[in-house]
Amino acid sequence: MAAFDDSLSVVSKSTSDKEHHDPEKDNLAHLLDKYKDRLTTLPKQKGWMGENLYLYQGFWYRSYGPFSVQMTMALQDSYQPHPANIYLVTPPKSGTTWVKALMFATLNRARYNQNTLLPHPLLISNPHNCVPFIEREFTKKTPNYVQENPNPHTARLFSTHIPYTSLPRSILDSSCRLVYLCRNPKDVMVSWYYFSNKLTKKHLTPMTIKEMFEVFTKGTLPYGPYWDHVKEYYKASCQHPTRILFLTYEVLKKDTFNQVKRIAEFLGCPFSKEEEGKGGVEEIMRICSLESLKEANKDGEYNEGVSNAVFFREGKVGGWGDDLTNEMSKILDDITNEKFQDLNISF
Ligand code: A3P
Repeated sequence: MAAFDDSLSVVSKSTSDKEHHDPEKDNLAHLLDKYKDRLTTLPKQKGWMGENLYLYQGFWYRSYGPFSVQMTMALQDSYQPHPANIYLVTPPKSGTTWVKALMFATLNRARYNQNTLLPHPLLISNPHNCVPFIEREFTKKTPNYVQENPNPHTARLFSTHIPYTSLPRSILDSSCRLVYLCRNPKDVMVSWYYFSNKLTKKHLTPMTIKEMFEVFTKGTLPYGPYWDHVKEYYKASCQHPTRILFLTYEVLKKDTFNQVKRIAEFLGCPFSKEEEGKGGVEEIMRICSLESLKEANKDGEYNEGVSNAVFFREGKVGGWGDDLTNEMSKILDDITNEKFQDLNISF
């Protein structure tokens, strides 16, 4: 996958760039060390891929790497958002990568339409490089969230999986807006299953669909329980509808055209009648289609042990039918009905 450089700092690093001294790794190691004592006070349990997960503020976390509980603690202690930041928040495997692409392509459409010399980043790079996780930006020496985008009035896009209860106070107290995306838990669970077993880290133990079902229903996988994650953001979006845009993967798939327009309005860059007439919305949909992103990400690694390709599979609504037994499906439906009984969410 080609690397490119522009002022949005969307840079795809080759593995060899990182070989010798990696400030991101050093910073992460320092952070893990800083919070190691607090880690030992948390309840732990074996869960996803045979790992010990830790329970913090009602949710399960890993204990190392950027998506660890220590990272959430560090962000809570010292993350400072820029007021123009907009965050995509998701439970993993809900369509994060797709919506990152849609938000990035929508917000930056003028830039890449006008300047034909610049290749569209989404045709050569992983959407996760275009809309970075704050968990990864935080440990960079010169984080994108400081140096990126010189115009303070233009929105800047980031993402996280952190549950609402544990979002850094600094984000909640800011004027930053959030886009939240969720998906039918049965498709999320199956997506987790295929994703996890394609990871190539040696210490991770592959899981059967039955084992994945067990950890998913118990919530013992990163950022689980899934239902509580959704519930908290749903309620917050009802309280703060202008600050939190609540989306579902299913509606996005069914009516991508209108949902992209809705996202554009929320990002503060609505499509003009003229743009719409020229097929501007369809162009975004095309660049961000599963086929196009799959092609752009067929080679290379996003991160150690995580290929670019692993984020793109079937992208179906209701694909769970091929993998779940009737019994699993019924149990998941029962949990969903019980947990979401007072919420107006349907998948
Ligand atoms: P499946 O495993 O069901 O195919 P996340 O990005 O949160 O990790 O979610 C991954 C899921 O989103 C995968 O679902 C993947 O195929 C799907 N996905 C990725 N890109 C997509 C796109 N452009 N359109 C629709 N779905 C997409």
